[in-house]
Amino acid sequence: MSLDLGSRQRAMLAEMGLRIFEPLPHPGMDTPPEPARQAAGKPALSAGVVQPIQPAPREMAHEPVVSRAGIDLMEWDALEKAVASCRACQLCDGRRNTVFGVGDRHADWMIVGEAPGENEDLQGEPFVGQAGKLLDNMLKALGLDRHHKVYIANVLKCRPPGNRNPEPQEVAQCEPFLRRQVELLQPKIILAMGRFAIQSLLGSPEPIGKLRGRAHQYMGVPVVVTYHPAYLLRNLAEKSKAWADLCLALEVMRAQPVAPAR
Ligand code: URA
Repeated sequence: MSLDLGSRQRAMLAEMGLRIFEPLPHPGMDTPPEPARQAAGKPALSAGVVQPIQPAPREMAHEPVVSRAGIDLMEWDALEKAVASCRACQLCDGRRNTVFGVGDRHADWMIVGEAPGENEDLQGEPFVGQAGKLLDNMLKALGLDRHHKVYIANVLKCRPPGNRNPEPQEVAQCEPFLRRQVELLQPKIILAMGRFAIQSLLGSPEPIGKLRGRAHQYMGVPVVVTYHPAYLLRNLAEKSKAWADLCLALEVMRAQPVAPAR
């Protein structure tokens, strides 16, 4: 197919994932020779041929590097390395860093958020942007901070492009990592922040408002749900509800039996 295209049509084709092959002009010849292609037994390309853009081979391979059973046996460092090399879904193609988690690996408190945003992707640490500042202040109000007695992780370990919502298959691929983090940590309380953390841990499609005010369970650990800090930044009036949720989490945490020293 030989085409004579204007710039608008070219832009449209590019948007659809097609590109136009245009050989460089070759002095003194109507059709440029393509010795390398022809020697390789490939058909010659002519100007204006529309070809699909082939993804690079690296981008095509999205498959778990380790099995779920393997993840279930990992200790902290192996788990962190497995996350860093994970290629189970498309999010690996756009990440700058994986965001494994931060904090005390013997913490009583575990905070579970949704997914890294731009700042988290850059720094490799959860909740370091504006929402993170609010989370730090909420923890401070309880006498906690992100490096002591608290461990913070997300449902997804890689940033969804443009901070879009996580896709169900991305959540499913990442779930064994979060599950193993909970198993290793054995926290006394999990605070699930926002819809995706809540749905992922509790498997419930109920709105947050219906799940607040009581303790749920994930792998035998009590879970208290609350609003995501990014939501609270946009809805300041809900902060008092989040404070009530934190107080409930503290109460539930304190009611847990004292675990033997780890
Ligand atoms: N929002 C989250 O849920 N997690 C982060 O790490 C940052 C923002």
